[in-house]
Amino acid sequence: MDSARTASPTAPPSTADRWVEFWNRPHSIYANRRHLEAHFARIGQDVAEHLPSDGTVLDFGCGDALAADAMAERCGSLLLFDASPAVRARLTGRFSGNPRVRVLDERGLAALPPGSVDLLLVVSVLQYIPEADLPTLLERWRKLLSPGGRALIADVVDPGTPMLADVASQLRMGWEHGFLTASLVALLRLTLSDYRQVRREAGFATYTPDEVLERLEKAGLRGIRLPRNIGPTPHRRSFIAHPRTRTPQDAEEPAPALNVQ
Ligand SMILES: C[S@@+](CC[C@H](N)C(=O)[O-])C[C@H]1O[C@@H](n2cnc3c(N)ncnc32)[C@H](O)[C@@H]1O
Repeated sequence: MDSARTASPTAPPSTADRWVEFWNRPHSIYANRRHLEAHFARIGQDVAEHLPSDGTVLDFGCGDALAADAMAERCGSLLLFDASPAVRARLTGRFSGNPRVRVLDERGLAALPPGSVDLLLVVSVLQYIPEADLPTLLERWRKLLSPGGRALIADVVDPGTPMLADVASQLRMGWEHGFLTASLVALLRLTLSDYRQVRREAGFATYTPDEVLERLEKAGLRGIRLPRNIGPTPHRRSFIAHPRTRTPQDAEEPAPALNVQ
């Protein structure tokens, strides 16, 4: 997933690496600084109720993490991981003076002890992970969770969601926060960029709620769908899951029906 891990300099990038490369360079997904601030303010607000008051939070695929200071203030320790080296470099510069925030690279992520994370955040990342890689990743995440830990997997895209729904959501946000013109310009620039080509060639993973819950269950996580999505995109979906404690009975009985809200 880290572009630094590409097998050989001449080998074509994997589909996951193509997305990481996309996120690693300048893009116009966010219209301007005001958009980024409004975006992360909303995420910070929505995530607040799920933060452990004194625990470790891992934000996987954190992006520029503008809500990180406030989140770290609330929980004991915030670990930020993003596969993009450029994003990590920006984060490292910003958080070097904050003892509560640690920016991890792939090696730092791999070195985290099992059971050391009380809340795992994965917001708007699943769509960039090839479907075939998800089971291994979910297993990895489950192992990182403490016995009372939770995984909050948010902004999952439903199959068949028209791109227009995302466009409308961004324009609404631009209108509400006073950057509508910048949003229109950014959307035009995105249309003219290689975004759609990367999306077509690298894939854009989408899941129904049942598919998410089923994959969580297979990885040993019991999940429920939250009534509202985390973040500013109301038509997407969020899930919270905890490690399923297996008893000897579990091995003999089928899993109980999933509790979907
Ligand atoms: C849409 S942004 C989400 C950022 C932030 N979580 C948010 O909700 O605003 C997607 C982020 O996921 C990162 N990303 C993409 N593929 C990844 C992967 N395979 N592993 C970890 N991070 C990844 C990108 O670098 C990018 O910063």
